[in-house]
Amino acid sequence: MSTLNQLSLQYPIFLAPMAGVSTPQLAAEVSNAGGLGSLGLGASSIESCREQILKTQALTDQAFQVNFFCHRSEVLDLDVAQQWIQHLQPYFAQFGHHAPEQLNCIYPSFLDSDDYLHLILELRPAAVSFHFGIPHPHQIQALKEAGIITMVTATNLNEAQAIEQAGIDLIIAQGIEAGGHRGIFHPQRDAALSTAELVQLLHQYCNLPIVAAGGIMNGQHAQHLLDLGASAVQLGTAFIQCSSSNANTIYREALFDEPVTQISAAISGRPARGIVNDWHKWIEQLDRPEIPVYPYSYDIAKQLHQLAAQQQHQGFAAFWAGSQVAEIRQLEAAELIYTLAKEMRLA
Ligand SMILES: Cc1cc2nc3c(=O)[nH]c(=O)nc-3n(C[C@H](O)[C@H](O)[C@H](O)COP(=O)(O)O)c2cc1C
Repeated sequence: MSTLNQLSLQYPIFLAPMAGVSTPQLAAEVSNAGGLGSLGLGASSIESCREQILKTQALTDQAFQVNFFCHRSEVLDLDVAQQWIQHLQPYFAQFGHHAPEQLNCIYPSFLDSDDYLHLILELRPAAVSFHFGIPHPHQIQALKEAGIITMVTATNLNEAQAIEQAGIDLIIAQGIEAGGHRGIFHPQRDAALSTAELVQLLHQYCNLPIVAAGGIMNGQHAQHLLDLGASAVQLGTAFIQCSSSNANTIYREALFDEPVTQISAAISGRPARGIVNDWHKWIEQLDRPEIPVYPYSYDIAKQLHQLAAQQQHQGFAAFWAGSQVAEIRQLEAAELIYTLAKEMRLA
């Protein structure tokens, strides 16, 4: 049986895992409608992961995926951190506060311990996906032995070949159009291939099933990527507007009213695509200091956003969205899956 068949999906449509936006309700609605629901758990504590997986399992008996970050933890250069803090101090002052004295590592990597692995092995979601890199061999082995399908994001051929050699089951081919963080293994090396270019390249040189992700907002585009060699498609931005997502009202309005996106590493320390805001404008300043490594930059960015948002300033929000956000439609998750399937001539 092929890997995708093991998931018993009615339609080859995945909800992208979206840390901060995913909810058990949204994941379950997608799975119950015949797609693959997802939980983005990369920013969640073990307790919160447990709660979200159990909630999703209570809402659906269909397959869904959980997602974690697999970045190599980098050492923070303390001088770079101090210069960044000083650079941002005037913006904190503008909102009547001091910048923090230090930057913290706010997100763990799946590579750093087996705590998240043990939770997955206990709760057994059907599939687990990884962003920014490949899990350790013993972690892949344990997931395989438990019959859990593994998937890793690739943005170029080298990453895809490493994924294949590691014994992973599926490649998520993330094109440059994608909303959120680039899944690049090395934070400074990006081939910047479009989703269609990447799917064709991986279809030619890799044997694993490919899931196309990035800029897909309708079924015609999804079908085109299947025709190019993808076995399924994964959509994130198209689902943010669903009422069961965790996006707040301002984020939802921005999706419809300010549909221009850009990639910047200034927010988190890793390149990510979102709706253009103050961060994107600053990053082009010639005199800005070096950006501290991921996820330390994210720590101060989140603090500045929280402070600014309390004073009704939204310029520092990370409203992640894909390049094709202008095509967003107001549809609930089940309706969106069915509409996509119809446009793909599958329903
Ligand atoms: C709000 C948001 C959050 C995201 N968070 C994650 C995440 O936690 N893990 C992950 O693997 N990908 C994440 N992504 C990237 C998606 O998996 C996927 O590559 C992207 O949504 C596809 O492009 P699209 O948004 O144009 O559909 C996120 C994307 C968005 C829009």
